[in-house]
Amino acid sequence: MAVEVYKGAVDKGLEGVVACTTAVSSIVDATLCYRGYTIEDLAANATFEEVIWLLWNNEHPTKDQSEKLMKELSESAVLSDQTISFLNTLPVKDVHPMAWLRSAVSALSLWDNNSQDLSKENQRAVGVRLMSKMPTLVSFFHRKREGKNFVQPKPGKTMAWNFMYMLSGEEPNPEAVKVMDTCLTLHADHELNCSAFSTRVTASSLSDIYSAITSGIGSLKGPLHGGANEQVMRMLFEIGEEDKAAAWVENALANKVKIMGFGHRVYKNGDPRAKILKSMSKSLSESTGNAKWYKISDIIEQAVVSQKGLLPNVDFYSATVYYSMGIPMDMFTPIFAVSRTSGWLAHAYEQYDNNRIYRPRGEWTGKVGQHWN
Ligand code: COA
Repeated sequence: MAVEVYKGAVDKGLEGVVACTTAVSSIVDATLCYRGYTIEDLAANATFEEVIWLLWNNEHPTKDQSEKLMKELSESAVLSDQTISFLNTLPVKDVHPMAWLRSAVSALSLWDNNSQDLSKENQRAVGVRLMSKMPTLVSFFHRKREGKNFVQPKPGKTMAWNFMYMLSGEEPNPEAVKVMDTCLTLHADHELNCSAFSTRVTASSLSDIYSAITSGIGSLKGPLHGGANEQVMRMLFEIGEEDKAAAWVENALANKVKIMGFGHRVYKNGDPRAKILKSMSKSLSESTGNAKWYKISDIIEQAVVSQKGLLPNVDFYSATVYYSMGIPMDMFTPIFAVSRTSGWLAHAYEQYDNNRIYRPRGEWTGKVGQHWN
């Protein structure tokens, strides 16, 4: 007797699948919008706190609303003694910051007993508590592995300011804060990318916010997603000199090696964030004595475009922006996670508001009719 197996139309990587409706961010051709505002407009004119408000509330905040949110976030960013004691038990030596961050965010839920209450009001409050602590956690990890004392955030300061302050232990200069603020805005959301989808899948089982964001961090960590920015800087170091860049690309492509920071599932005519980051990378790398890395990047871009027809994505020039700011390479993806938590939260809220559990099918390709004797 023939054994029936499940067969369906497989869309590997879900490229052609529209998995949900969303009003958080949109990509149409080469235009990215958060809640209907273009990324160019937001990067030039909005603060990260205003962007968070916009993503969570689907409206432009008033000055009072964004200032209140900034105050709330800065106050809630402080870590309790209990949390610090626990975090001090986590290993940092030879540990990737994204692995540490994933564990730390998951652990935060242990002090937030109310997180299972999925009412809208409660989830907004949980979101503020979690969002606010992301820069604190990343900075905690960074200072601990450097053998330095943890620095608590200052109330009344923006997330970008506090992040720079906690990382270095020194009051940051306004230009650096502005660059960080713009980077946080540029990375905040990106429609149904891999980590936003993971976040939504976890939220769709009506699991709590911490579980959903922990899923997002795990997905972002991979080199095909957020982990690419760190790999871009490692590639620039491997190439080392401008005159070696074109040949390096030719050799990599001939060997079917993926060039990190290039290509995109959705953008085929260029990622608008890469254009903004490219001009930031040029001016920052020149003003900080790192022009060489920008020049190598530019040669790589020309070579990949002419040899493979692929354009840079968000991760390509963000690498030299962060490097020029003196940020260690393995902290690039955690910075992405800090920013993207705002978008993940907006996606989780949207999922809770209009939920149906994600449960696709898999086409069976294994053995059939086996018997256990
Ligand atoms: N370098 C070299 N070739 C690349 C490439 C890259 N960065 N990105 C895609 N390609 C090639 C693939 O090898 C494939 O070529 P083929 O048809 O000759 O086999 C083709 O382009 C399609 O790529 P594919 O991996 O199927 O595209 P995707 O939509 O599944 O993946 C990415 C999209 C972003 C994961 C992919 O472009 C990639 O791996 N980029 C590098 C990692 C990166 O920068 N990630 C950050 C994304 S924001």
